[in-house]
This record gives sequence, structure tokens and C-alpha cells, in this order.
Amino acid sequence: MAKNRTFTMLKPDALENGHMGKIIDMIIQAGFEIKAMKFTRLSTEQARKFYEVHAERPFYNELVAYMTSGPIIAAILEKENAVSDFRALIGSTDPAEAAEGTIRKAYAESKGRNAVHGSDSDENAEIEGRFHFSVEEIF
Ligand code: CMP
Repeated sequence: MAKNRTFTMLKPDALENGHMGKIIDMIIQAGFEIKAMKFTRLSTEQARKFYEVHAERPFYNELVAYMTSGPIIAAILEKENAVSDFRALIGSTDPAEAAEGTIRKAYAESKGRNAVHGSDSDENAEIEGRFHFSVEEIF
């Protein structure tokens, strides 16, 4: 199986709660190679654009406010089966439904403040990675 890439963000709650080192370690221990990584903060315009697929959802404004409330870590990760393996590693959107051993089970606060993002397809991983990184920032 060829290696492919996914995109992740460690969200403001993960950083606020001091979980960034432990989450990055779980990602590395699970076999993902970090191809790009950035400590940054989303502007309201960037967050609205990133989550525009959810624009009609009742939680959209809350999601944008939360994702701009503090710094995040954005990263591109590489591994065989990166998208699906990473979604398995992070667990269900709602930590109450996330399996033992997943990042969200260990560190997410709630369905909204759920510690980490993972792309849902190869196509979105590519779009989301390009949203945050220039070619020169990917190794
Ligand atoms: P993620 O799957 O990374 O991207 C979409 C985000 O929307 C999701 O994480 C949650 O943070 C947020 N979200 C999804 N459902 C809800 C909900 N019912 N209430 C609040 N936020 C939500």
C-alpha cells in the first residue's frame, strides 16, 4: 500500500489544556511521519472558509468562534492509509462515543471542543494541507 497524506489541526482546547506534546507523541507512535507543522492562529475569515461546508449547520458560528479562540497546531502527516488510519486514531467526533485508546477519548472535552481535526478524504487532505502550507513548508 502506497503512503499517502492527511491533514490535522490540534485545536485550541488541546493547547489550552496542555495536551499538545502528548497528542503529537501519540501521532508519531502510531507511525505517522510529520511532513509539515505550524503553530498558528486562525483568523475569523480563515476559519469561516475552512469550515464553509458546515456553514448551514446550527453550530457553525460557535465552531468558528471556538477555532479562532486561541492558537492551533496545523500539520501534514504521511503514512500508508493516512486518512483512514488517522481518523481511527482520533476516534469519533463526540468523545463520549470515541473508543478507548483514541486521542479524542483521552483528550477531547466535548463534541464541539474535540481536541483534534482529521481530514475525511484524500481530496480534502490535499485541499486542507494547501490551505495552511506553501510548497516550501512541506518536507
Ligand atoms: P471536525 O470533525 O474536526 O470538523 C467539524 C467540527 O464541527 C467537528 O470537528 C466539531 O468540532 C464541530 N461539531 C460537529 N458537530 C457539532 C455539534 N453538534 N456541536 C458543536 N460542534 C460540532
